[in-house]
Amino acid sequence: MANNVTVESVRSIPKTVEVIGVPVGTTGAVPRQLGLSRAALTAHGFDGKVGQTLTVPSSSGPTVIAVGIGDPRKATAATVRRSAAALARAASRRASVATTLVDSVSLDARSAAQAAVEGFVLASYRYTDLKSGVENPAVTLSLVATGSRAKGCDAGVERGRTTSAAAWTARDLANTPPAYLTARMLADRAVAMAKESGLEVEVFDNDKLAVMGCGGLLGVNRGSTEPARMVKLTYSPAGATGHLVMVGKGITYDSGGISLKPSDASHANMKMDMSGAAAVLSAMSALKALRCRTKVTGYLMCTDNRPSGSAVAMGDVLTFRNGKTAEIHNTDAEGRLVLADGLSLGVETKPDAMVDIATLTGACMAALGTKIAGVLGTNDAFIDQVKNSAGRADEPVWQLPLERDYRRLLDSNVADMRNIGGPYAGAITAALFLAEFTGDVPWAHLDIAGPMSVDGDDGWLSRGATGFGTRLLIDLALNFTKPKR
Ligand code: BES
Ligand code: MN
Ligand code: ZN
Repeated sequence: MANNVTVESVRSIPKTVEVIGVPVGTTGAVPRQLGLSRAALTAHGFDGKVGQTLTVPSSSGPTVIAVGIGDPRKATAATVRRSAAALARAASRRASVATTLVDSVSLDARSAAQAAVEGFVLASYRYTDLKSGVENPAVTLSLVATGSRAKGCDAGVERGRTTSAAAWTARDLANTPPAYLTARMLADRAVAMAKESGLEVEVFDNDKLAVMGCGGLLGVNRGSTEPARMVKLTYSPAGATGHLVMVGKGITYDSGGISLKPSDASHANMKMDMSGAAAVLSAMSALKALRCRTKVTGYLMCTDNRPSGSAVAMGDVLTFRNGKTAEIHNTDAEGRLVLADGLSLGVETKPDAMVDIATLTGACMAALGTKIAGVLGTNDAFIDQVKNSAGRADEPVWQLPLERDYRRLLDSNVADMRNIGGPYAGAITAALFLAEFTGDVPWAHLDIAGPMSVDGDDGWLSRGATGFGTRLLIDLALNFTKPKR
Protein backbone atom coordinates (compact mmCIF):
# COMPACT_ATOMS: atom_id res chain seq x y z
CA MET A 1 0.00 0.00 0.00
CA ALA A 2 1.36 3.36 -0.97
CA ASN A 3 2.51 5.57 1.85
CA ASN A 4 -0.28 8.13 1.84
CA VAL A 5 0.94 10.41 4.60
CA THR A 6 2.34 13.71 3.34
CA VAL A 7 4.52 15.81 5.62
CA GLU A 8 5.51 19.44 5.12
CA SER A 9 7.73 21.78 7.10
CA VAL A 10 6.01 25.16 7.51
CA ARG A 11 6.42 28.47 9.36
CA SER A 12 2.84 28.84 10.63
CA ILE A 13 -0.28 26.74 11.13
CA PRO A 14 -2.18 26.46 7.82
CA LYS A 15 -5.57 28.22 7.96
CA THR A 16 -7.75 25.33 6.84
CA VAL A 17 -6.28 22.62 9.03
CA GLU A 18 -8.70 20.16 10.70
CA VAL A 19 -6.63 19.20 13.73
CA ILE A 20 -4.07 21.15 15.73
CA GLY A 21 -1.79 19.22 18.07
CA VAL A 22 -0.46 21.37 20.90
CA PRO A 23 2.62 20.02 22.72
CA VAL A 24 2.26 20.21 26.50
CA GLY A 25 4.97 19.21 28.96
CA THR A 26 4.63 17.77 32.45
CA THR A 27 6.13 21.05 33.68
CA GLY A 28 6.27 24.58 32.30
CA ALA A 29 3.60 26.83 30.90
CA VAL A 30 0.54 25.44 29.13
CA PRO A 31 0.33 27.06 25.65
CA ARG A 32 -2.47 29.64 25.51
CA GLN A 33 -3.74 28.15 22.24
CA LEU A 34 -5.28 25.39 24.34
CA GLY A 35 -7.49 27.74 26.32
CA LEU A 36 -7.15 25.53 29.39
CA SER A 37 -5.24 25.85 32.66
CA ARG A 38 -2.87 23.24 34.03
CA ALA A 39 -5.46 22.51 36.73
CA ALA A 40 -8.16 21.94 34.14
CA LEU A 41 -5.92 19.58 32.17
CA THR A 42 -5.04 17.64 35.32
CA ALA A 43 -8.72 17.44 36.24
CA HIS A 44 -9.29 15.71 32.88
CA GLY A 45 -6.57 13.18 33.61
CA PHE A 46 -3.97 14.76 31.33
CA ASP A 47 -0.64 15.58 32.90
CA GLY A 48 1.57 15.91 29.84
CA LYS A 49 3.25 12.51 29.93
CA VAL A 50 4.65 11.16 26.67
CA GLY A 51 1.96 9.16 24.88
CA GLN A 52 -0.95 11.00 26.52
CA THR A 53 -3.36 13.08 24.46
CA LEU A 54 -6.49 15.05 25.35
CA THR A 55 -8.94 16.12 22.66
CA VAL A 56 -10.47 19.49 23.48
CA PRO A 57 -13.99 19.76 22.08
CA SER A 58 -14.89 22.91 20.18
CA SER A 59 -18.09 23.89 18.42
CA SER A 60 -16.32 25.51 15.50
CA GLY A 61 -12.88 25.61 13.94
CA PRO A 62 -10.22 22.94 14.10
CA THR A 63 -10.12 20.22 16.74
CA VAL A 64 -7.41 20.96 19.28
CA ILE A 65 -5.51 18.05 20.83
CA ALA A 66 -3.15 18.45 23.77
CA VAL A 67 -0.14 16.18 23.16
CA GLY A 68 1.97 15.11 26.13
CA ILE A 69 5.71 15.55 25.58
CA GLY A 70 7.01 14.72 29.09
CA ASP A 71 9.67 16.91 30.69
CA PRO A 72 10.36 19.48 27.96
CA ARG A 73 13.98 19.93 29.10
CA LYS A 74 14.66 16.22 28.62
CA ALA A 75 13.08 15.57 25.23
CA THR A 76 14.80 12.90 23.12
CA ALA A 77 14.18 11.61 19.62
CA ALA A 78 12.39 8.67 21.24
CA THR A 79 9.99 10.84 23.28
CA VAL A 80 9.24 13.08 20.30
CA ARG A 81 8.62 10.02 18.10
CA ARG A 82 6.19 8.60 20.66
CA SER A 83 4.38 11.91 21.14
CA ALA A 84 3.91 12.31 17.40
CA ALA A 85 2.59 8.74 17.18
CA ALA A 86 0.06 9.51 19.93
CA LEU A 87 -1.06 12.61 18.00
CA ALA A 88 -1.52 10.56 14.82
CA ARG A 89 -3.68 8.05 16.67
CA ALA A 90 -5.73 10.72 18.47
CA ALA A 91 -6.27 12.64 15.22
CA SER A 92 -7.56 9.32 13.84
CA ARG A 93 -6.94 9.88 10.18
CA ARG A 94 -8.43 13.33 9.78
CA ALA A 95 -7.17 14.72 6.47
CA SER A 96 -5.00 17.57 7.79
CA VAL A 97 -3.08 17.88 11.03
CA ALA A 98 -0.70 20.61 12.16
CA THR A 99 1.58 20.67 15.18
CA THR A 100 4.45 22.72 16.50
CA LEU A 101 7.90 21.16 16.53
CA VAL A 102 8.89 20.30 20.09
CA ASP A 103 11.38 22.91 21.32
CA SER A 104 13.89 21.56 23.81
CA VAL A 105 17.41 22.37 24.92
CA SER A 106 18.16 18.65 24.81
CA LEU A 107 17.35 18.06 21.13
CA ASP A 108 18.33 19.83 17.90
CA ALA A 109 15.56 20.82 15.51
CA ARG A 110 16.61 18.41 12.76
CA SER A 111 16.54 15.33 15.02
CA ALA A 112 13.26 16.45 16.58
CA ALA A 113 11.63 16.94 13.19
CA GLN A 114 12.90 13.62 11.82
CA ALA A 115 11.57 11.81 14.90
CA ALA A 116 8.20 13.60 14.72
CA VAL A 117 7.74 12.56 11.09
CA GLU A 118 8.74 8.97 11.83
CA GLY A 119 6.33 8.73 14.76
CA PHE A 120 3.42 10.27 12.89
CA VAL A 121 3.88 8.34 9.64
CA LEU A 122 4.60 4.96 11.20
CA ALA A 123 1.64 5.21 13.62
CA SER A 124 -0.55 5.87 10.56
CA TYR A 125 0.59 2.62 8.93
CA ARG A 126 -1.94 -0.06 8.07
CA TYR A 127 -1.61 -3.06 5.75
CA THR A 128 -4.80 -2.80 3.68
CA ASP A 129 -3.83 -4.39 0.35
CA LEU A 130 -6.03 -7.45 0.80
CA LYS A 131 -9.01 -5.88 2.55
CA SER A 132 -11.76 -5.23 0.02
CA GLY A 133 -12.84 -1.62 -0.13
CA VAL A 134 -10.43 -0.48 2.57
CA GLU A 135 -7.77 2.10 1.85
CA ASN A 136 -5.67 4.26 4.07
CA PRO A 137 -7.10 7.78 3.88
CA ALA A 138 -4.68 10.46 2.76
CA VAL A 139 -3.34 12.59 5.61
CA THR A 140 -1.18 15.72 5.57
CA LEU A 141 0.95 16.68 8.56
CA SER A 142 2.21 20.27 8.74
CA LEU A 143 5.12 20.60 11.13
CA VAL A 144 5.56 24.17 12.30
CA ALA A 145 8.92 25.66 13.24
CA THR A 146 10.08 29.27 13.21
CA GLY A 147 13.25 31.30 13.67
CA SER A 148 16.48 29.45 14.20
CA ARG A 149 14.70 26.06 14.19
CA ALA A 150 13.13 26.44 10.75
CA LYS A 151 16.10 25.22 8.72
CA GLY A 152 16.63 22.20 10.95
CA CYS A 153 12.94 21.39 10.68
CA ASP A 154 13.11 21.44 6.87
CA ALA A 155 16.08 19.07 6.90
CA GLY A 156 14.57 16.78 9.54
CA VAL A 157 11.26 16.52 7.69
CA GLU A 158 13.13 15.58 4.53
CA ARG A 159 15.05 12.86 6.36
CA GLY A 160 12.03 11.63 8.29
CA ARG A 161 10.05 11.23 5.09
CA THR A 162 12.78 9.01 3.67
CA THR A 163 13.37 6.89 6.78
CA SER A 164 9.69 6.38 7.54
CA ALA A 165 8.90 5.53 3.92
CA ALA A 166 11.63 2.88 4.06
CA ALA A 167 10.25 1.36 7.28
CA TRP A 168 6.74 1.50 5.78
CA THR A 169 7.93 -0.49 2.77
CA ALA A 170 9.65 -3.06 4.99
CA ARG A 171 6.38 -3.53 6.89
CA ASP A 172 4.43 -3.93 3.64
CA LEU A 173 6.85 -6.57 2.39
CA ALA A 174 6.75 -8.54 5.65
CA ASN A 175 2.96 -8.34 5.96
CA THR A 176 2.50 -9.72 2.45
CA PRO A 177 1.32 -13.37 2.50
CA PRO A 178 3.60 -16.10 1.12
CA ALA A 179 1.79 -16.68 -2.18
CA TYR A 180 1.85 -12.93 -2.87
CA LEU A 181 5.57 -12.63 -2.20
CA THR A 182 7.57 -15.62 -3.40
CA ALA A 183 11.33 -15.40 -3.73
CA ARG A 184 10.92 -14.46 -7.39
CA MET A 185 8.44 -11.73 -6.57
CA LEU A 186 10.64 -10.40 -3.79
CA ALA A 187 13.54 -10.23 -6.25
CA ASP A 188 11.32 -8.42 -8.76
CA ARG A 189 10.36 -5.90 -6.09
CA ALA A 190 14.03 -5.45 -5.22
CA VAL A 191 14.87 -4.74 -8.87
CA ALA A 192 12.08 -2.15 -9.12
CA MET A 193 13.08 -0.47 -5.84
CA ALA A 194 16.76 -0.48 -6.81
CA LYS A 195 15.98 1.27 -10.11
CA GLU A 196 13.89 3.92 -8.35
CA SER A 197 16.46 4.58 -5.67
CA GLY A 198 19.71 4.51 -7.63
CA LEU A 199 21.13 1.16 -6.57
CA GLU A 200 22.87 -1.37 -8.77
CA VAL A 201 21.10 -4.71 -8.65
CA GLU A 202 21.89 -8.21 -9.79
CA VAL A 203 19.61 -11.24 -9.40
CA PHE A 204 20.93 -14.80 -9.18
CA ASP A 205 18.69 -17.78 -10.03
CA ASN A 206 19.17 -21.44 -9.07
CA ASP A 207 21.48 -22.17 -11.99
CA LYS A 208 23.77 -19.28 -11.15
CA LEU A 209 23.64 -20.13 -7.45
CA ALA A 210 24.70 -23.70 -8.26
CA VAL A 211 27.68 -22.48 -10.28
CA MET A 212 28.62 -20.22 -7.37
CA GLY A 213 28.41 -23.08 -4.86
CA CYS A 214 25.66 -21.55 -2.74
CA GLY A 215 24.63 -24.92 -1.30
CA GLY A 216 22.96 -23.41 1.75
CA LEU A 217 20.38 -21.36 -0.10
CA LEU A 218 19.85 -24.15 -2.64
CA GLY A 219 19.59 -26.76 0.12
CA VAL A 220 16.79 -24.89 1.85
CA ASN A 221 15.11 -24.33 -1.51
CA ARG A 222 15.16 -28.02 -2.46
CA GLY A 223 11.76 -28.79 -0.92
CA SER A 224 10.01 -25.93 -2.64
CA THR A 225 8.09 -25.77 -5.92
CA GLU A 226 9.31 -22.15 -6.20
CA PRO A 227 12.89 -21.35 -7.21
CA ALA A 228 15.26 -19.42 -4.96
CA ARG A 229 16.67 -15.98 -5.62
CA MET A 230 19.69 -14.15 -4.34
CA VAL A 231 19.66 -10.40 -4.86
CA LYS A 232 22.87 -8.39 -4.72
CA LEU A 233 22.40 -4.67 -4.22
CA THR A 234 25.19 -2.12 -4.46
CA TYR A 235 25.22 1.49 -3.33
CA SER A 236 28.50 2.99 -4.41
CA PRO A 237 28.87 6.75 -3.87
CA ALA A 238 31.83 8.62 -5.35
CA GLY A 239 34.64 8.94 -2.81
CA ALA A 240 33.15 6.42 -0.40
CA THR A 241 34.55 6.58 3.13
CA GLY A 242 34.13 2.88 3.94
CA HIS A 243 32.47 -0.32 2.79
CA LEU A 244 29.74 -2.10 4.73
CA VAL A 245 28.08 -5.41 3.75
CA MET A 246 24.50 -6.16 4.83
CA VAL A 247 23.03 -9.67 4.58
CA GLY A 248 19.30 -10.28 5.08
CA LYS A 249 17.44 -13.53 5.75
CA GLY A 250 14.73 -13.72 3.10
CA ILE A 251 12.66 -16.80 3.96
CA THR A 252 9.34 -15.87 2.35
CA TYR A 253 7.61 -18.60 4.35
CA ASP A 254 9.10 -20.90 6.98
CA SER A 255 7.09 -24.10 7.43
CA GLY A 256 10.06 -25.71 9.13
CA GLY A 257 10.59 -28.06 6.18
CA ILE A 258 10.77 -31.78 7.05
CA SER A 259 11.06 -30.63 10.69
CA LEU A 260 7.54 -29.28 10.21
CA LYS A 261 6.34 -26.62 12.63
CA PRO A 262 3.08 -27.36 14.50
CA SER A 263 -0.05 -25.53 13.29
CA ASP A 264 0.31 -23.04 16.10
CA ALA A 265 -1.28 -19.62 15.58
CA SER A 266 2.10 -17.88 15.82
CA HIS A 267 3.30 -19.74 12.75
CA ALA A 268 0.99 -17.72 10.52
CA ASN A 269 3.63 -15.07 11.17
CA MET A 270 6.22 -17.13 9.31
CA LYS A 271 5.38 -15.11 6.18
CA MET A 272 7.48 -12.51 8.01
CA ASP A 273 10.60 -14.69 8.01
CA MET A 274 11.95 -12.42 5.26
CA SER A 275 11.92 -9.39 7.58
CA GLY A 276 15.71 -9.22 7.59
CA ALA A 277 15.87 -9.06 3.79
CA ALA A 278 13.07 -6.48 3.81
CA ALA A 279 15.05 -4.33 6.25
CA VAL A 280 18.23 -4.49 4.13
CA LEU A 281 16.37 -3.73 0.89
CA SER A 282 14.33 -0.88 2.35
CA ALA A 283 17.27 0.63 4.23
CA MET A 284 19.45 0.57 1.12
CA SER A 285 16.69 2.22 -0.92
CA ALA A 286 17.07 5.30 1.32
CA LEU A 287 20.84 5.74 1.10
CA LYS A 288 21.10 7.86 -2.01
CA ALA A 289 18.36 10.26 -0.93
CA LEU A 290 20.19 10.67 2.39
CA ARG A 291 23.52 11.23 0.61
CA CYS A 292 25.19 8.38 2.49
CA ARG A 293 28.99 8.41 2.12
CA THR A 294 29.48 4.72 2.91
CA LYS A 295 29.58 2.10 0.16
CA VAL A 296 27.03 -0.60 1.00
CA THR A 297 26.66 -4.03 -0.58
CA GLY A 298 23.51 -5.95 0.27
CA TYR A 299 22.67 -9.63 -0.14
CA LEU A 300 19.05 -10.80 0.09
CA MET A 301 18.91 -14.58 0.53
CA CYS A 302 15.43 -15.53 -0.69
CA THR A 303 13.50 -18.81 -0.73
CA ASP A 304 10.68 -20.45 1.17
CA ASN A 305 11.29 -23.49 3.41
CA ARG A 306 8.92 -26.37 2.68
CA PRO A 307 8.65 -30.13 3.22
CA SER A 308 8.36 -32.36 0.14
CA GLY A 309 9.84 -35.41 -1.50
CA SER A 310 12.77 -33.40 -2.67
CA ALA A 311 13.30 -31.49 0.58
CA VAL A 312 16.62 -31.67 2.34
CA ALA A 313 16.56 -34.63 4.76
CA MET A 314 17.87 -35.04 8.25
CA GLY A 315 21.48 -36.15 8.09
CA ASP A 316 22.00 -34.59 4.66
CA VAL A 317 25.18 -32.56 4.32
CA LEU A 318 25.26 -29.18 2.56
CA THR A 319 28.36 -27.43 1.20
CA PHE A 320 28.40 -23.64 1.39
CA ARG A 321 29.99 -20.97 -0.79
CA ASN A 322 33.14 -20.85 1.36
CA GLY A 323 33.63 -24.64 1.12
CA LYS A 324 32.55 -25.53 4.65
CA THR A 325 30.03 -28.30 5.23
CA ALA A 326 27.11 -28.74 7.64
CA GLU A 327 25.10 -31.80 8.63
CA ILE A 328 21.38 -31.05 8.88
CA HIS A 329 19.90 -32.05 12.22
CA ASN A 330 16.86 -29.80 12.00
CA THR A 331 15.51 -28.39 8.73
CA ASP A 332 13.79 -25.63 10.72
CA ALA A 333 17.21 -24.11 11.44
CA GLU A 334 17.26 -22.87 7.84
CA GLY A 335 18.05 -19.20 8.32
CA ARG A 336 21.68 -19.81 9.18
CA LEU A 337 22.02 -21.99 6.05
CA VAL A 338 21.00 -19.23 3.66
CA LEU A 339 22.95 -16.57 5.59
CA ALA A 340 26.10 -18.73 5.42
CA ASP A 341 26.28 -18.26 1.65
CA GLY A 342 25.50 -14.55 1.89
CA LEU A 343 28.18 -13.92 4.51
CA SER A 344 30.71 -15.96 2.50
CA LEU A 345 30.07 -13.80 -0.56
CA GLY A 346 30.30 -10.70 1.59
CA VAL A 347 33.76 -11.67 2.87
CA GLU A 348 34.95 -12.00 -0.74
CA THR A 349 34.28 -8.29 -1.35
CA LYS A 350 36.79 -7.45 1.46
CA PRO A 351 34.50 -5.00 3.26
CA ASP A 352 35.37 -2.99 6.38
CA ALA A 353 32.51 -4.66 8.28
CA MET A 354 29.50 -6.91 7.80
CA VAL A 355 26.13 -6.94 9.48
CA ASP A 356 23.44 -9.56 9.04
CA ILE A 357 19.84 -9.27 10.12
CA ALA A 358 17.55 -12.24 10.54
CA THR A 359 14.43 -13.55 12.24
CA LEU A 360 16.71 -16.33 13.36
CA THR A 361 15.78 -17.98 16.66
CA GLY A 362 12.85 -18.44 19.00
CA ALA A 363 15.58 -18.69 21.64
CA CYS A 364 16.47 -15.03 21.18
CA MET A 365 12.82 -14.12 21.54
CA ALA A 366 12.63 -16.24 24.72
CA ALA A 367 15.68 -14.41 26.11
CA LEU A 368 14.86 -10.80 25.18
CA GLY A 369 11.13 -10.75 24.45
CA THR A 370 9.38 -8.98 21.64
CA LYS A 371 10.78 -5.47 22.15
CA ILE A 372 14.51 -6.14 21.92
CA ALA A 373 16.70 -7.69 19.25
CA GLY A 374 19.82 -9.67 20.08
CA VAL A 375 23.19 -8.51 18.81
CA LEU A 376 26.29 -10.72 18.73
CA GLY A 377 29.51 -10.48 16.81
CA THR A 378 33.24 -10.53 16.55
CA ASN A 379 34.20 -6.87 16.94
CA ASP A 380 33.08 -4.77 19.92
CA ALA A 381 33.89 -1.44 18.24
CA PHE A 382 31.52 -2.31 15.39
CA ILE A 383 28.91 -3.74 17.78
CA ASP A 384 29.06 -0.40 19.60
CA GLN A 385 28.21 1.35 16.34
CA VAL A 386 25.20 -0.97 15.99
CA LYS A 387 24.14 -0.22 19.58
CA ASN A 388 24.42 3.55 19.00
CA SER A 389 22.32 3.32 15.84
CA ALA A 390 19.77 1.21 17.71
CA GLY A 391 19.55 3.91 20.37
CA ARG A 392 19.02 6.71 17.87
CA ALA A 393 16.42 4.70 15.93
CA ASP A 394 14.70 3.51 19.13
CA GLU A 395 15.02 -0.04 17.83
CA PRO A 396 16.51 -1.57 20.98
CA VAL A 397 19.21 -4.23 20.90
CA TRP A 398 20.96 -6.15 23.67
CA GLN A 399 24.32 -7.83 23.25
CA LEU A 400 24.61 -11.55 23.95
CA PRO A 401 28.02 -13.19 24.25
CA LEU A 402 29.56 -15.07 21.34
CA GLU A 403 30.85 -17.74 23.75
CA ARG A 404 33.48 -19.68 21.79
CA ASP A 405 33.38 -22.54 24.28
CA TYR A 406 29.88 -23.39 22.99
CA ARG A 407 31.23 -24.06 19.50
CA ARG A 408 31.62 -27.72 20.47
CA LEU A 409 27.81 -27.95 20.68
CA LEU A 410 27.84 -27.72 16.87
CA ASP A 411 30.35 -30.54 16.37
CA SER A 412 29.31 -33.17 13.80
CA ASN A 413 30.54 -36.72 13.20
CA VAL A 414 30.52 -36.32 9.44
CA ALA A 415 30.72 -32.60 8.52
CA ASP A 416 32.45 -29.43 9.71
CA MET A 417 29.45 -28.72 11.92
CA ARG A 418 25.82 -29.52 12.60
CA ASN A 419 23.16 -26.91 11.93
CA ILE A 420 21.80 -26.92 15.49
CA GLY A 421 23.30 -26.93 18.98
CA GLY A 422 21.78 -28.37 22.12
CA PRO A 423 18.66 -27.31 24.01
CA TYR A 424 20.24 -24.19 25.55
CA ALA A 425 21.75 -20.92 24.30
CA GLY A 426 20.07 -21.28 20.91
CA ALA A 427 20.67 -17.64 19.93
CA ILE A 428 24.38 -18.01 20.69
CA THR A 429 24.90 -21.33 18.90
CA ALA A 430 23.11 -19.89 15.85
CA ALA A 431 25.51 -16.93 15.88
CA LEU A 432 28.51 -19.27 16.31
CA PHE A 433 27.34 -21.10 13.20
CA LEU A 434 27.25 -17.82 11.28
CA ALA A 435 30.67 -16.79 12.62
CA GLU A 436 32.15 -19.67 10.59
CA PHE A 437 31.40 -17.67 7.43
CA THR A 438 32.69 -14.24 8.41
CA GLY A 439 36.44 -14.77 7.94
CA ASP A 440 38.35 -11.98 9.62
CA VAL A 441 35.85 -9.26 8.74
CA PRO A 442 34.44 -7.34 11.74
CA TRP A 443 30.88 -8.67 11.98
CA ALA A 444 27.68 -8.08 13.89
CA HIS A 445 24.56 -10.23 13.78
CA LEU A 446 21.06 -8.96 14.60
CA ASP A 447 18.51 -11.57 15.67
CA ILE A 448 15.12 -9.87 15.20
CA ALA A 449 12.82 -12.88 15.78
CA GLY A 450 11.25 -11.11 18.79
CA PRO A 451 10.60 -7.60 17.47
CA MET A 452 9.63 -8.55 13.89
CA SER A 453 5.94 -8.12 14.75
CA VAL A 454 3.52 -6.75 17.33
CA ASP A 455 0.07 -8.09 18.21
CA GLY A 456 -1.53 -4.68 18.68
CA ASP A 457 -0.89 -1.00 18.01
CA ASP A 458 1.75 0.35 20.39
CA GLY A 459 3.05 3.91 19.92
CA TRP A 460 4.56 4.17 16.42
CA LEU A 461 4.34 0.40 16.00
CA SER A 462 1.18 -0.65 14.20
CA ARG A 463 -0.13 -4.20 14.56
CA GLY A 464 1.60 -6.70 12.31
CA ALA A 465 5.10 -6.42 10.89
CA THR A 466 7.24 -3.70 12.51
CA GLY A 467 9.93 -3.08 9.88
CA PHE A 468 12.38 -3.41 12.78
CA GLY A 469 15.97 -2.78 11.81
CA THR A 470 15.27 -0.66 8.73
CA ARG A 471 15.93 2.68 10.42
CA LEU A 472 18.74 1.15 12.49
CA LEU A 473 20.54 0.03 9.32
CA ILE A 474 20.06 3.42 7.66
CA ASP A 475 21.59 5.12 10.69
CA LEU A 476 24.42 2.58 10.76
CA ALA A 477 25.31 3.21 7.12
CA LEU A 478 25.11 7.00 7.53
CA ASN A 479 27.38 7.03 10.58
CA PHE A 480 29.66 4.11 9.69
CA THR A 481 33.38 4.37 10.43
CA LYS A 482 35.88 1.57 9.77
CA PRO A 483 36.27 -0.37 13.02
CA LYS A 484 39.76 -1.37 14.17
CA ARG A 485 40.29 -5.09 13.73
N1 BES B 1 12.19 -18.34 11.62
C1 BES B 1 12.43 -19.13 12.77
C2 BES B 1 12.66 -18.32 14.03
C3 BES B 1 11.50 -17.50 14.53
C4 BES B 1 10.67 -18.01 15.52
C5 BES B 1 11.30 -16.22 14.09
C6 BES B 1 9.63 -17.24 15.99
C7 BES B 1 10.25 -15.45 14.57
C8 BES B 1 9.42 -15.96 15.52
C9 BES B 1 13.69 -19.97 12.53
O1 BES B 1 13.92 -20.37 11.24
C10 BES B 1 13.52 -21.22 13.34
O2 BES B 1 12.67 -22.00 13.03
N2 BES B 1 14.38 -21.38 14.33
C11 BES B 1 14.36 -22.53 15.17
C12 BES B 1 15.77 -23.01 15.34
C13 BES B 1 15.88 -24.33 16.05
C14 BES B 1 15.34 -25.43 15.16
C15 BES B 1 17.33 -24.58 16.36
C16 BES B 1 13.77 -22.14 16.51
O3 BES B 1 14.05 -21.04 16.98
O4 BES B 1 13.00 -22.92 17.05
MN1 MN C 1 12.92 -22.20 10.77
ZN1 ZN D 1 13.12 -19.17 9.76
